[in-house]
Amino acid sequence: MRTQVGIIGGGPSGLLLSQLLHLKGIASVLIERQSREYVLGRIRAGVLEHGFAALMREAQVGDRMDREGQIHDGFFIAHDGIKERVDLKALTGGNSVIVYGQTELTRDLYEGRDRLGGSVVHNVKDVTLHDLQSAHPHVTYRHEEELERIDCDFVIGCDGFHGVSRKAIPKDRIREYERAYPFGWLGVLSRTPPVSPELIYAKHERGFALCSLRSQTLSRYYIQVPLTDSVEQWSDEQFFDELKRRLPPDFASALITGPSIEKSIAPLRSFVAEPMRYGNLYLAGDAAHIVPPTGARGLNSAASDIYYLYHALVDHYEKGDDRGLENYSNKALARVWKGQRFSWWMTTLLHRFPDGSGFDQRLQDTELTYLFSSPRALASLAENYVGLPF
Ligand code: FAD
Ligand code: DHB
Repeated sequence: MRTQVGIIGGGPSGLLLSQLLHLKGIASVLIERQSREYVLGRIRAGVLEHGFAALMREAQVGDRMDREGQIHDGFFIAHDGIKERVDLKALTGGNSVIVYGQTELTRDLYEGRDRLGGSVVHNVKDVTLHDLQSAHPHVTYRHEEELERIDCDFVIGCDGFHGVSRKAIPKDRIREYERAYPFGWLGVLSRTPPVSPELIYAKHERGFALCSLRSQTLSRYYIQVPLTDSVEQWSDEQFFDELKRRLPPDFASALITGPSIEKSIAPLRSFVAEPMRYGNLYLAGDAAHIVPPTGARGLNSAASDIYYLYHALVDHYEKGDDRGLENYSNKALARVWKGQRFSWWMTTLLHRFPDGSGFDQRLQDTELTYLFSSPRALASLAENYVGLPF
Protein backbone atom coordinates (compact mmCIF):
# COMPACT_ATOMS: atom_id res chain seq x y z
CA MET A 1 0.00 0.00 0.00
CA ARG A 2 1.05 3.61 -0.52
CA THR A 3 0.94 6.32 2.15
CA GLN A 4 2.78 9.51 3.02
CA VAL A 5 4.21 8.53 6.41
CA GLY A 6 4.93 4.96 7.55
CA ILE A 7 5.00 4.74 11.35
CA ILE A 8 6.59 1.79 13.18
CA GLY A 9 5.26 1.25 16.73
CA GLY A 10 1.89 1.87 18.36
CA GLY A 11 3.01 3.26 21.70
CA PRO A 12 2.27 6.87 22.69
CA SER A 13 4.80 8.35 20.21
CA GLY A 14 3.49 6.60 17.09
CA LEU A 15 -0.17 7.01 17.97
CA LEU A 16 0.13 10.70 18.83
CA LEU A 17 2.04 11.47 15.62
CA SER A 18 -0.43 9.61 13.38
CA GLN A 19 -3.36 11.36 15.06
CA LEU A 20 -1.82 14.85 14.74
CA LEU A 21 -0.87 14.27 11.08
CA HIS A 22 -4.34 12.94 10.26
CA LEU A 23 -5.91 16.16 11.55
CA LYS A 24 -3.69 18.07 9.10
CA GLY A 25 -4.71 15.84 6.18
CA ILE A 26 -1.42 13.91 6.10
CA ALA A 27 -1.89 10.17 5.58
CA SER A 28 -0.06 7.56 7.63
CA VAL A 29 -0.09 3.84 8.23
CA LEU A 30 0.97 2.63 11.68
CA ILE A 31 2.15 -0.92 12.33
CA GLU A 32 2.44 -2.43 15.82
CA ARG A 33 4.07 -5.70 16.80
CA GLN A 34 1.71 -6.48 19.70
CA SER A 35 -2.05 -6.74 20.02
CA ARG A 36 -4.01 -3.69 21.14
CA GLU A 37 -4.92 -5.46 24.41
CA TYR A 38 -1.26 -6.15 25.12
CA VAL A 39 -0.26 -2.52 24.54
CA LEU A 40 -3.12 -1.37 26.79
CA GLY A 41 -2.10 -3.82 29.51
CA ARG A 42 1.32 -2.21 30.04
CA ILE A 43 1.62 -0.09 33.16
CA ARG A 44 4.21 2.62 32.69
CA ALA A 45 4.51 6.35 33.25
CA GLY A 46 2.11 8.53 35.18
CA VAL A 47 3.16 12.19 35.09
CA LEU A 48 2.52 14.48 32.10
CA GLU A 49 4.07 17.87 31.46
CA HIS A 50 1.70 20.69 30.56
CA GLY A 51 3.28 20.82 27.06
CA PHE A 52 2.37 17.18 26.50
CA ALA A 53 -1.15 17.83 27.75
CA ALA A 54 -1.48 20.68 25.23
CA LEU A 55 -0.40 18.33 22.43
CA MET A 56 -3.04 15.78 23.51
CA ARG A 57 -5.68 18.52 23.29
CA GLU A 58 -4.40 19.58 19.85
CA ALA A 59 -4.76 15.93 18.79
CA GLN A 60 -8.41 16.08 19.98
CA VAL A 61 -7.81 13.33 22.54
CA GLY A 62 -7.47 15.44 25.68
CA ASP A 63 -11.06 15.46 27.00
CA ARG A 64 -10.81 12.49 29.36
CA MET A 65 -7.33 13.57 30.47
CA ASP A 66 -8.78 16.97 31.40
CA ARG A 67 -11.75 15.36 33.18
CA GLU A 68 -10.00 12.53 35.02
CA GLY A 69 -6.35 13.59 35.21
CA GLN A 70 -5.29 15.31 38.39
CA ILE A 71 -3.41 18.59 38.36
CA HIS A 72 -0.49 18.42 40.79
CA ASP A 73 0.98 21.70 41.97
CA GLY A 74 3.76 20.08 43.98
CA PHE A 75 5.39 16.90 45.28
CA PHE A 76 7.40 15.79 48.30
CA ILE A 77 10.98 14.71 48.71
CA ALA A 78 11.34 12.62 51.89
CA HIS A 79 14.71 12.01 53.50
CA ASP A 80 16.09 11.41 56.98
CA GLY A 81 12.62 10.91 58.45
CA ILE A 82 11.28 14.25 57.19
CA LYS A 83 9.42 15.40 54.10
CA GLU A 84 9.95 18.64 52.20
CA ARG A 85 7.57 19.97 49.58
CA VAL A 86 8.56 21.20 46.14
CA ASP A 87 5.93 23.80 45.30
CA LEU A 88 5.94 23.53 41.51
CA LYS A 89 3.34 26.22 41.00
CA ALA A 90 5.03 28.85 43.13
CA LEU A 91 8.53 28.03 41.88
CA THR A 92 7.64 28.11 38.17
CA GLY A 93 5.25 31.05 38.15
CA GLY A 94 2.09 28.97 37.81
CA ASN A 95 3.03 25.68 36.11
CA SER A 96 2.06 22.21 37.28
CA VAL A 97 1.93 18.61 36.00
CA ILE A 98 -0.99 16.27 35.28
CA VAL A 99 -1.10 12.83 36.86
CA TYR A 100 -2.71 10.61 34.23
CA GLY A 101 -1.48 7.11 33.46
CA GLN A 102 0.23 6.25 30.19
CA THR A 103 -2.22 3.35 29.90
CA GLU A 104 -5.21 5.73 29.90
CA LEU A 105 -3.47 8.14 27.55
CA THR A 106 -2.74 5.29 25.11
CA ARG A 107 -6.38 4.17 25.30
CA ASP A 108 -7.50 7.73 24.44
CA LEU A 109 -5.10 7.80 21.49
CA TYR A 110 -6.40 4.47 20.16
CA GLU A 111 -9.96 5.73 20.49
CA GLY A 112 -8.96 8.93 18.67
CA ARG A 113 -7.47 6.84 15.84
CA ASP A 114 -10.67 4.76 15.66
CA ARG A 115 -12.84 7.88 15.55
CA LEU A 116 -10.95 9.32 12.57
CA GLY A 117 -10.69 5.95 10.84
CA GLY A 118 -6.89 5.88 11.22
CA SER A 119 -4.95 2.99 9.74
CA VAL A 120 -3.41 0.94 12.59
CA VAL A 121 -2.29 -2.65 11.97
CA HIS A 122 -1.59 -4.87 14.99
CA ASN A 123 0.28 -8.16 15.41
CA VAL A 124 2.78 -7.50 12.65
CA LYS A 125 5.94 -9.61 12.36
CA ASP A 126 9.31 -9.42 10.59
CA VAL A 127 9.21 -5.65 10.15
CA THR A 128 12.04 -4.61 7.81
CA LEU A 129 12.97 -1.12 6.61
CA HIS A 130 14.27 -0.64 3.04
CA ASP A 131 15.86 2.08 0.88
CA LEU A 132 15.97 4.56 3.74
CA GLN A 133 18.48 6.78 1.94
CA SER A 134 16.25 7.09 -1.13
CA ALA A 135 13.24 9.36 -1.75
CA HIS A 136 11.10 6.20 -1.87
CA PRO A 137 11.68 4.19 1.28
CA HIS A 138 9.48 1.19 2.00
CA VAL A 139 8.66 -1.12 4.88
CA THR A 140 7.81 -4.81 4.65
CA TYR A 141 6.14 -6.94 7.33
CA ARG A 142 4.13 -10.06 7.82
CA HIS A 143 0.50 -9.86 8.91
CA GLU A 144 -1.71 -12.94 9.24
CA GLU A 145 0.95 -14.87 7.31
CA GLU A 146 0.77 -12.48 4.30
CA LEU A 147 3.81 -10.43 3.31
CA GLU A 148 2.77 -6.76 3.17
CA ARG A 149 4.54 -3.63 1.94
CA ILE A 150 4.16 0.09 2.76
CA ASP A 151 5.58 2.58 0.25
CA CYS A 152 5.96 6.03 1.78
CA ASP A 153 7.86 9.32 1.78
CA PHE A 154 9.11 9.00 5.35
CA VAL A 155 9.54 6.16 7.84
CA ILE A 156 9.13 7.15 11.47
CA GLY A 157 10.68 4.77 14.02
CA CYS A 158 8.52 4.94 17.16
CA ASP A 159 9.13 1.31 18.10
CA GLY A 160 10.72 1.77 21.49
CA PHE A 161 14.13 0.77 22.80
CA HIS A 162 13.95 -2.84 21.56
CA GLY A 163 12.48 -2.00 18.14
CA VAL A 164 13.99 -2.53 14.69
CA SER A 165 14.18 1.07 13.43
CA ARG A 166 17.29 2.21 15.28
CA LYS A 167 18.97 -1.08 14.39
CA ALA A 168 18.29 -0.42 10.69
CA ILE A 169 20.84 2.41 10.79
CA PRO A 170 24.35 1.26 9.83
CA LYS A 171 26.63 1.13 12.89
CA ASP A 172 29.03 3.68 11.44
CA ARG A 173 26.22 6.22 10.99
CA ILE A 174 24.95 6.26 14.57
CA ARG A 175 26.58 6.89 17.93
CA GLU A 176 25.15 5.51 21.16
CA TYR A 177 25.72 6.98 24.63
CA GLU A 178 24.73 4.83 27.56
CA ARG A 179 24.79 4.44 31.33
CA ALA A 180 23.31 1.43 33.09
CA TYR A 181 22.55 1.81 36.80
CA PRO A 182 23.24 -1.05 39.22
CA PHE A 183 19.59 -1.31 40.35
CA GLY A 184 15.99 -1.44 39.12
CA TRP A 185 12.55 -0.31 40.27
CA LEU A 186 10.04 -2.85 41.52
CA GLY A 187 6.60 -1.33 40.84
CA VAL A 188 3.25 -2.33 42.31
CA LEU A 189 -0.21 -1.13 41.28
CA SER A 190 -2.89 -1.65 43.93
CA ARG A 191 -6.55 -0.77 44.27
CA THR A 192 -6.01 1.23 47.46
CA PRO A 193 -6.33 4.93 48.30
CA PRO A 194 -2.94 6.65 47.80
CA VAL A 195 -0.94 7.38 50.93
CA SER A 196 -0.58 11.02 49.90
CA PRO A 197 -2.49 13.25 47.48
CA GLU A 198 0.90 14.37 46.09
CA LEU A 199 3.81 12.18 44.96
CA ILE A 200 6.54 11.33 47.45
CA TYR A 201 10.09 10.66 46.22
CA ALA A 202 11.90 9.08 49.20
CA LYS A 203 15.64 8.77 49.71
CA HIS A 204 16.56 6.20 52.34
CA GLU A 205 19.67 4.27 53.32
CA ARG A 206 17.84 1.04 52.36
CA GLY A 207 17.18 2.50 48.90
CA PHE A 208 14.86 4.82 47.00
CA ALA A 209 11.05 4.60 47.11
CA LEU A 210 8.29 6.43 45.23
CA CYS A 211 4.63 6.79 46.17
CA SER A 212 2.58 7.73 43.14
CA LEU A 213 -1.03 7.30 42.14
CA ARG A 214 -3.44 6.96 39.28
CA SER A 215 -6.67 8.05 41.03
CA GLN A 216 -8.22 8.38 44.48
CA THR A 217 -8.59 4.60 44.58
CA LEU A 218 -5.56 3.41 42.62
CA SER A 219 -1.99 3.67 43.94
CA ARG A 220 1.33 3.12 42.19
CA TYR A 221 4.33 2.42 44.41
CA TYR A 222 7.97 1.69 43.56
CA ILE A 223 11.03 0.58 45.50
CA GLN A 224 14.64 0.40 44.38
CA VAL A 225 15.81 -3.24 44.20
CA PRO A 226 19.05 -4.96 43.12
CA LEU A 227 19.14 -5.95 39.46
CA THR A 228 19.41 -9.59 40.50
CA ASP A 229 15.96 -9.55 42.19
CA SER A 230 12.93 -11.07 40.46
CA VAL A 231 9.23 -10.27 40.88
CA GLU A 232 8.59 -13.76 42.33
CA GLN A 233 10.94 -12.99 45.23
CA TRP A 234 8.68 -10.18 46.43
CA SER A 235 5.31 -11.04 47.95
CA ASP A 236 2.90 -8.12 48.34
CA GLU A 237 3.48 -8.17 52.08
CA GLN A 238 7.27 -8.02 51.70
CA PHE A 239 6.92 -5.19 49.19
CA PHE A 240 4.75 -3.04 51.45
CA ASP A 241 6.88 -3.78 54.52
CA GLU A 242 9.96 -2.60 52.65
CA LEU A 243 8.16 0.46 51.25
CA LYS A 244 7.07 1.47 54.76
CA ARG A 245 10.63 1.16 56.09
CA ARG A 246 11.77 3.72 53.51
CA LEU A 247 9.06 6.33 54.26
CA PRO A 248 8.89 8.91 57.07
CA PRO A 249 6.91 7.40 60.03
CA ASP A 250 3.73 9.47 59.47
CA PHE A 251 3.42 8.23 55.89
CA ALA A 252 4.40 4.67 56.79
CA SER A 253 1.67 4.42 59.42
CA ALA A 254 -0.95 5.97 57.11
CA LEU A 255 -0.19 3.64 54.18
CA ILE A 256 -3.12 1.40 53.28
CA THR A 257 -2.00 -1.84 51.66
CA GLY A 258 -3.89 -4.22 49.40
CA PRO A 259 -3.27 -6.95 46.84
CA SER A 260 -1.17 -5.94 43.85
CA ILE A 261 -2.93 -5.93 40.50
CA GLU A 262 0.36 -5.50 38.63
CA LYS A 263 3.94 -6.05 39.73
CA SER A 264 7.02 -5.62 37.55
CA ILE A 265 10.71 -4.72 37.65
CA ALA A 266 12.21 -2.11 35.31
CA PRO A 267 16.01 -1.77 35.06
CA LEU A 268 17.32 1.81 35.09
CA ARG A 269 19.25 3.02 32.09
CA SER A 270 20.24 6.27 30.38
CA PHE A 271 20.64 5.95 26.61
CA VAL A 272 20.81 8.34 23.65
CA ALA A 273 21.38 7.50 19.97
CA GLU A 274 22.66 10.29 17.70
CA PRO A 275 21.63 11.48 15.20
CA MET A 276 17.90 10.72 15.30
CA ARG A 277 17.75 10.62 11.51
CA TYR A 278 19.15 8.44 8.75
CA GLY A 279 18.06 9.47 5.26
CA ASN A 280 14.27 9.38 5.34
CA LEU A 281 14.09 7.45 8.61
CA TYR A 282 13.38 9.59 11.67
CA LEU A 283 13.54 8.15 15.20
CA ALA A 284 11.28 9.36 18.00
CA GLY A 285 10.74 8.51 21.68
CA ASP A 286 12.23 5.43 23.31
CA ALA A 287 13.52 4.22 19.93
CA ALA A 288 16.19 6.91 20.22
CA HIS A 289 16.58 7.56 23.95
CA ILE A 290 15.59 6.26 27.34
CA VAL A 291 16.01 7.70 30.82
CA PRO A 292 15.85 6.25 34.31
CA PRO A 293 12.26 6.90 35.50
CA THR A 294 13.20 9.23 38.40
CA GLY A 295 11.77 12.60 37.47
CA ALA A 296 9.23 11.21 34.97
CA ARG A 297 10.96 12.39 31.79
CA GLY A 298 10.62 9.27 29.57
CA LEU A 299 7.17 9.76 28.15
CA ASN A 300 7.55 13.53 28.17
CA SER A 301 10.78 13.39 26.12
CA ALA A 302 8.93 11.24 23.59
CA ALA A 303 6.23 13.94 23.37
CA SER A 304 8.72 16.69 22.57
CA ASP A 305 10.17 14.62 19.69
CA ILE A 306 6.66 14.22 18.33
CA TYR A 307 6.04 17.95 18.63
CA TYR A 308 9.14 18.76 16.52
CA LEU A 309 8.49 16.00 14.00
CA TYR A 310 4.81 16.87 13.60
CA HIS A 311 5.59 20.51 12.84
CA ALA A 312 8.46 19.53 10.51
CA LEU A 313 6.22 17.17 8.51
CA VAL A 314 3.40 19.72 8.31
CA ASP A 315 5.87 22.34 7.01
CA HIS A 316 7.12 19.84 4.44
CA TYR A 317 3.67 18.91 3.12
CA GLU A 318 1.95 22.29 3.45
CA LYS A 319 4.75 24.69 2.47
CA GLY A 320 7.45 22.55 0.88
CA ASP A 321 9.69 23.82 3.69
CA ASP A 322 12.19 21.14 4.79
CA ARG A 323 14.08 23.14 7.38
CA GLY A 324 12.20 21.48 10.24
CA LEU A 325 13.08 18.02 8.93
CA GLU A 326 16.70 18.99 8.43
CA ASN A 327 16.95 20.44 11.94
CA TYR A 328 14.83 17.77 13.62
CA SER A 329 17.65 15.69 15.05
CA ASN A 330 19.59 18.64 16.47
CA LYS A 331 16.50 20.29 17.90
CA ALA A 332 15.11 17.12 19.46
CA LEU A 333 18.49 16.06 20.86
CA ALA A 334 19.05 19.44 22.53
CA ARG A 335 15.93 18.88 24.62
CA VAL A 336 16.49 15.15 25.03
CA TRP A 337 19.89 15.78 26.63
CA LYS A 338 18.35 18.23 29.10
CA GLY A 339 15.89 15.50 30.09
CA GLN A 340 18.80 13.09 30.36
CA ARG A 341 20.69 15.47 32.63
CA PHE A 342 17.70 15.97 34.89
CA SER A 343 16.88 12.25 35.13
CA TRP A 344 20.51 11.37 35.88
CA TRP A 345 20.63 14.11 38.53
CA MET A 346 17.39 13.02 40.24
CA THR A 347 18.51 9.38 40.12
CA THR A 348 21.93 10.17 41.56
CA LEU A 349 20.43 12.39 44.25
CA LEU A 350 17.90 9.92 45.59
CA HIS A 351 19.17 6.34 45.09
CA ARG A 352 21.45 4.21 47.17
CA PHE A 353 24.43 3.20 45.01
CA PRO A 354 25.77 -0.21 46.12
CA ASP A 355 29.33 0.83 45.26
CA GLY A 356 28.94 4.42 46.55
CA SER A 357 31.63 5.59 48.95
CA GLY A 358 31.14 7.56 52.17
CA PHE A 359 32.24 10.60 50.17
CA ASP A 360 29.46 10.01 47.61
CA GLN A 361 26.86 9.74 50.38
CA ARG A 362 28.01 12.98 52.03
CA LEU A 363 27.75 14.71 48.65
CA GLN A 364 24.19 13.37 48.22
CA ASP A 365 23.25 14.69 51.68
CA THR A 366 24.85 18.05 50.94
CA GLU A 367 23.06 18.30 47.60
CA LEU A 368 19.72 17.79 49.37
CA THR A 369 20.53 20.30 52.12
CA TYR A 370 21.59 22.82 49.49
CA LEU A 371 18.46 22.19 47.43
CA PHE A 372 16.08 22.97 50.28
CA SER A 373 18.11 25.95 51.47
CA SER A 374 18.28 27.64 48.06
CA PRO A 375 15.12 28.88 46.36
CA ARG A 376 17.15 29.15 43.14
CA ALA A 377 18.25 25.50 43.27
CA LEU A 378 14.67 24.45 43.99
CA ALA A 379 13.39 26.59 41.11
CA SER A 380 15.79 24.75 38.77
CA LEU A 381 14.39 21.40 39.94
CA ALA A 382 10.83 22.66 39.49
CA GLU A 383 11.31 24.09 35.98
CA ASN A 384 12.77 20.80 34.79
CA TYR A 385 10.05 18.71 36.46
CA VAL A 386 7.15 20.64 34.90
CA GLY A 387 8.96 20.47 31.55
CA LEU A 388 11.26 22.86 29.71
CA PRO A 389 9.69 24.68 26.76
CA PHE A 390 9.59 22.77 23.44
P1 FAD B 1 6.94 2.55 23.57
O1 FAD B 1 5.90 2.92 24.55
O2 FAD B 1 7.98 1.59 23.99
O3 FAD B 1 6.21 2.03 22.27
C1 FAD B 1 6.89 1.37 21.24
C2 FAD B 1 5.92 0.44 20.55
O4 FAD B 1 6.56 -0.15 19.45
C3 FAD B 1 5.46 -0.70 21.45
O5 FAD B 1 4.06 -0.75 21.48
C4 FAD B 1 6.10 -1.93 20.85
O6 FAD B 1 5.29 -3.08 21.01
C5 FAD B 1 6.21 -1.52 19.40
N1 FAD B 1 7.25 -2.23 18.65
C6 FAD B 1 8.45 -2.67 19.07
N2 FAD B 1 9.09 -3.28 18.08
C7 FAD B 1 8.31 -3.21 16.99
C8 FAD B 1 8.43 -3.66 15.67
N3 FAD B 1 9.52 -4.32 15.26
N4 FAD B 1 7.43 -3.42 14.81
C9 FAD B 1 6.32 -2.76 15.20
N5 FAD B 1 6.13 -2.33 16.46
C10 FAD B 1 7.13 -2.55 17.34
N6 FAD B 1 8.48 6.70 31.91
C11 FAD B 1 8.16 7.52 32.89
O7 FAD B 1 8.20 8.74 32.67
N7 FAD B 1 7.79 7.02 34.12
C12 FAD B 1 7.71 5.66 34.36
O8 FAD B 1 7.36 5.23 35.44
C13 FAD B 1 8.05 4.78 33.36
N8 FAD B 1 8.03 3.44 33.54
C14 FAD B 1 8.41 2.62 32.52
C15 FAD B 1 8.41 1.23 32.70
C16 FAD B 1 8.83 0.36 31.68
C17 FAD B 1 8.84 -1.13 31.89
C18 FAD B 1 9.23 0.92 30.43
C19 FAD B 1 9.69 0.01 29.30
C20 FAD B 1 9.21 2.30 30.25
C21 FAD B 1 8.81 3.15 31.29
N9 FAD B 1 8.78 4.54 31.12
C22 FAD B 1 8.43 5.36 32.13
C23 FAD B 1 9.12 5.17 29.90
C24 FAD B 1 7.89 5.49 29.08
O9 FAD B 1 6.91 4.51 29.27
C25 FAD B 1 8.35 5.58 27.66
O10 FAD B 1 9.23 6.70 27.56
C26 FAD B 1 7.23 5.70 26.64
O11 FAD B 1 6.48 4.51 26.60
C27 FAD B 1 7.81 6.00 25.26
O12 FAD B 1 6.84 5.86 24.29
P2 FAD B 1 7.20 5.33 22.85
O13 FAD B 1 5.91 5.33 22.12
O14 FAD B 1 8.34 6.10 22.31
O15 FAD B 1 7.73 3.85 23.07
C1 DHB C 1 5.50 7.63 38.12
C2 DHB C 1 6.65 7.19 37.59
C3 DHB C 1 7.78 7.98 37.68
O1 DHB C 1 8.92 7.58 37.15
C4 DHB C 1 7.75 9.20 38.30
O2 DHB C 1 8.88 9.93 38.39
C5 DHB C 1 6.58 9.64 38.80
C6 DHB C 1 5.44 8.85 38.71
C7 DHB C 1 4.28 6.78 38.04
O3 DHB C 1 4.35 5.70 37.46
O4 DHB C 1 3.25 7.19 38.57
